[in-house]
Amino acid sequence: MILMQLNGISKSFGAEEILSNIKMEVKDNDRIAIVGRNGAGKSTLLKIMAGEFSHDGGELLKPKDLTMGYLSQHMTLESGKTIWAEMLDVFEHLLGLEKQIRSMEQQMEQAATLSMENMKEYYSSMMSCSKHFSVMAAIHMKQTLKLF
Ligand SMILES: Nc1ncnc2c1ncn2[C@@H]1O[C@H](COP(=O)(O)OP(=O)(O)OP(=O)(O)O)[C@@H](O)[C@H]1O
Ligand SMILES: [Mg+2]
Repeated sequence: MILMQLNGISKSFGAEEILSNIKMEVKDNDRIAIVGRNGAGKSTLLKIMAGEFSHDGGELLKPKDLTMGYLSQHMTLESGKTIWAEMLDVFEHLLGLEKQIRSMEQQMEQAATLSMENMKEYYSSMMSCSKHFSVMAAIHMKQTLKLF
């Protein structure tokens, strides 16, 4: 599947043309290296692809629902956090879900005293967690139900 198509992309900063007639296709599972001398326009091209810079000419085609991650060459970290804490921030939503699952596990330890209605309630709330965790939740649920 084609994820992105660049047709004749051009970009200038002032009078200086940095990119001219760039044609490129990015397909599913592609691994692409962009090679060039310093100042050739590699980062400019990536920024255009990531939607951070506009382009002057040509067209960039991509599906509307395409999401992209872009790690900048020059990063400015302004927080007082450690590097570890800064990196964990990326996974904040997953860590939140993990906490939720752990707390549900604790509640399920008391499952022997729960009614079937409560179990169903636990099950649906676990299943509402992200798909990353729903399989895990189902396994936990199955194991717990075996106790009955
Ligand atoms: N925001 C900007 N405004 C004006 N000129 C810019 C801007 N960003 C980049 N340039 C200029 O565009 C040219 C290409 O820069 P770019 O950062 O894309 O090159 P690069 O290939 O990534 O270089 P490097 O190998 O050093 O990372 C350079 O001459 C740079 O000075
Ligand atoms: Mg660069």
